[in-house]
Amino acid sequence: MRLLLVFAVVVAAAAAQINQRRPGQTNNRVHNNQRPHNQQPQNQQQPPQKADSQKGTLLSLPEPQLCASRPKQWNFNGHNYFFSWDNEGEGFYELAGETQGRKVNWLEARNECRRRCMDAVSMETEAENNMIFQFIQDRNLSYIWTSGRLCDFTGCSERKDLHPINIYGWFWSNTNTKMAPTNSTPPGWAAQPWSPAGHTGGPQPDNAEYDINQTSESCLGVLNNIYKDGIKWHDIACYHKKPFVCEDSDALLDYVKGTNPTIIL
Ligand SMILES: *[C@@H]1O[C@H](CO)[C@@H](O)[C@H](O)[C@H]1NC(C)=O
Ligand SMILES: *[C@@H]1O[C@H](CO)[C@@H](O)[C@H](O)[C@H]1NC(C)=O
Repeated sequence: MRLLLVFAVVVAAAAAQINQRRPGQTNNRVHNNQRPHNQQPQNQQQPPQKADSQKGTLLSLPEPQLCASRPKQWNFNGHNYFFSWDNEGEGFYELAGETQGRKVNWLEARNECRRRCMDAVSMETEAENNMIFQFIQDRNLSYIWTSGRLCDFTGCSERKDLHPINIYGWFWSNTNTKMAPTNSTPPGWAAQPWSPAGHTGGPQPDNAEYDINQTSESCLGVLNNIYKDGIKWHDIACYHKKPFVCEDSDALLDYVKGTNPTIIL
C-alpha cells in the first residue's frame, strides 16, 4: 500500500514536470533569440494544457505497455509515426476504409497518441512538413489533426513574446516548440504552409468561427483543398473531429524509460 502510494506520487510529479514545459522553451534554448523564459518568476509558468483541463478533460499519461507495443508505421529522422486509420486498437479505426475511419477532437487525438508515448504530429521543419503533406496527398485524405495549438489560455497573456497571438502565439504542443510567425514564410522554408484562403476567404490563421459564434479556432489541422487551396495549414476550432497522425514524443518516451528501466521501446 505504502509503496503504491509513493509510486503514484512520483508519477504525478514526473507528469507535472512534463506538462510544465512551455511553448518557446525549445526555441529559446536553440536560437537564443527570444527573451529567456527564466527571466520570469517560476510561479508564473503555466502548462500549455491549462485551457483543456479547464474544460474538465485532461491530458493522458503514457501507459508503458502501450508505449512498448505502439504502432511504428513509418520512420522519419529517428521518430516513429502512424496514421490513426491504418492501425487497430482502441481509439483507432472502427471500420476499415479511408472514408469510414473514426474521427476525434483535437485533445482526444493527442491523448490516443500520448497513451502510446507519442503525441499528435508536429512539423517543425519543412522536410517533415513535406513528408506529412505527401502522405495526405498520396492517401487523398481530406484532413488530419496535428499537435499545433494557439497559446490563448491562462499564462499566455504574460508572455509578451507571444503577442499578437495570431502571429506569434502558435506552438507545437508535442515538443513545446514555437512556430515561426504566421504572417510570412517560415525562415528557410520554400513555401508558406498556412493557407492563403479559408472560411472568410483570407489567409490563415483567421479565427473565422470566433466571428460566427465566439468559438476560437485554437487548433491546427492540415486540410486538403477544402478551400481550393491545396494541402495547407488551417486554424480550426478544437471540437471538430478528424483522423490524426501520431509521432514519437521524446519527453514521454524518456519518462517511461526512466520509470521502467528494463522496458524496450
Ligand atoms: C480524393 O478525395 C476527394 C474528396 O473526398 C474526391 O472527390 C476525389 O474523387 C478523390 N480522388 C481520388 C483520386 O480518389
Ligand atoms: C459555431 O458555428 C459553427 C459553424 O457554423 C458550427 O458548426 C458550430 O456548431 C457552432 N458552435 C456553437 C457553439 O454554436
